[in-house]
Amino acid sequence: KSVVHRLWKGSASVDMLSPRLQKAVKDYMSTNKHGVSYRGRRHAQRNKKRLLCEMKRKAKVKTLDGEELPFSSLGWQKIVPALPLERLHGTGFSSCAVVTSAGAILHSGLGKEIDSHDAVLRFNSAPTKGYERDVGNKTTIRIINSQILANPSHHFNSSSLYKNMTLVAWDPAPYAVNLRKWYKNPDYNLFTPYMKYRKKFPAQPFYILHPRFIWQLWDVIQANTLEDIQPNPPSSGFIGILLMMWLCDEVDVYEYIPSLRQTDLCHYHERYYDAACTLGAYHPLLYEKILIQRIKHGSESDLRTKGKVTLPGFRTMRC
Ligand code: C5P
Repeated sequence: KSVVHRLWKGSASVDMLSPRLQKAVKDYMSTNKHGVSYRGRRHAQRNKKRLLCEMKRKAKVKTLDGEELPFSSLGWQKIVPALPLERLHGTGFSSCAVVTSAGAILHSGLGKEIDSHDAVLRFNSAPTKGYERDVGNKTTIRIINSQILANPSHHFNSSSLYKNMTLVAWDPAPYAVNLRKWYKNPDYNLFTPYMKYRKKFPAQPFYILHPRFIWQLWDVIQANTLEDIQPNPPSSGFIGILLMMWLCDEVDVYEYIPSLRQTDLCHYHERYYDAACTLGAYHPLLYEKILIQRIKHGSESDLRTKGKVTLPGFRTMRC
């Protein structure tokens, strides 16, 4: 049976990946670029409620506030937005949509449904223009990885893709979350472009996620997976889903767990084919998806036709 069908049933595993992807995963394991060493326990059988409560307890959303070194000595308290992200939108949103960039969302006709949410989260350089029927056109928050800021090909300063919305950037620090080391040696230098952008557009809310949040998310995935997961940060998709679980009462996620339209087309807006985009090689994406599958509610037919799963917001949960 296909990985997707196994994902729906909650029983996918890494040995279902193609030999090429399995080899890539092995290589990332032995490289361990971010110095991950996990000493926690592993559980395979936690029920939905316990899993959700563990996520709420262990992965608290956090952005750089400029209070810690080296950022405090560089005057970052004045650079970051005055309101923390958790308080920016007042009491938060009641309904939210997370729109992954998967090719499977093409021809879905989901645009109207997506836009009917109070807030819509999108990723990286995923456009809405020309794809409104399938992905909608409302963007409340965009999560961007550090490559978007660092690589001139994205025209981060001038492109309308990044205007009129809240921006949330991230870059993986060392697993030990040494901020000085991270500042000196980020994966892609996001710090300089971030400062420039903040000075140029001070009114636009723009945050950098604290790497502690990123690695807490990783820890939760590993803690609930028996196999060793890739020692690399979770995908933007997983980060965005958990971010919205902090900001919203209910989160609808589209085409993260693939629908019947599942395809090797990496992104809906590019003609590039690679199964790694949906199943992961660098990121522990398959394990992230198994975890989301375990905590979702929502019908099987929504999953088949819309690639939609519904997750509860942390605020509404009693633990
Ligand atoms: O490729 P990019 O990281 O910009 O895509 C945003 C997120 O959407 C990914 O991090 C991943 O979680 C999800 N995605 C997916 N399947 C795809 C493409 C993206 O699940 N084919």
